[in-house]
Amino acid sequence: MPQNKRSKLVVLISGSGSNLQAFIDASKNGNLNADIAAVISNKAGVMGLERAKNVGIANEVIDHKQFDDRESFDTELADRIERYQPDLVILAGFMRILTPEFVGRFAGRIMNIHPSLLPKYPGLHTHRRAIEAGDKKAGATVHFVTSELDGGPAIVQAEVPILPGDDEGALASRVLVQEHQIYPLAAQWFCEGKLSLKNGAPELNGEALPTSGKKFSNETP
Ligand code: GRF
Repeated sequence: MPQNKRSKLVVLISGSGSNLQAFIDASKNGNLNADIAAVISNKAGVMGLERAKNVGIANEVIDHKQFDDRESFDTELADRIERYQPDLVILAGFMRILTPEFVGRFAGRIMNIHPSLLPKYPGLHTHRRAIEAGDKKAGATVHFVTSELDGGPAIVQAEVPILPGDDEGALASRVLVQEHQIYPLAAQWFCEGKLSLKNGAPELNGEALPTSGKKFSNETP
């Protein structure tokens, strides 16, 4: 991808869209050399759609319940995404499991953020599971999407402490602050041509990334 050109993103959501907001802000303030061509939600009336409308970003609802099966929903979703010809597809709290056919259409240019230190706790209720297990730390991981749920190769990971007395909500808020930093950052690396998926393995600046991704700190360039 030419490194000077602004990239085009399509963001998929199902809810609040605070990660979407982080992308909107990063795109505006110069931290992300990309424009959001469209936001697509599988749920009507969610706050993420309002966030898109507030700044004039094209937004669509594709209600999965209107489709007979996962395959037909995914085909329609992929067709609608492709109309915008995005360089990168961003899953930001998109609560649908995607078929291998869908993932194959965007291989190497689709990312997700998961609120755990993957490979720990794929799936739901990550914060509750980390607290119940007595873990001392939690976090979030940005990864390329493969057909394995929350199982694609990690790009960047941020850690936070689990503090005595934390409940799920307190921990989720602490992790979200980190999510909003690492997700636009990973997208920016991709848009700058620094990050790519080579034969299934992510490379940043020409070097293979560790299995759990680059460890984020506030000094991470
Ligand atoms: C985030 O915790 C993200 O890691 C997970 O879903 C949540 C979405 O939050 N995949 P938001 O809609 O971006 O506020």
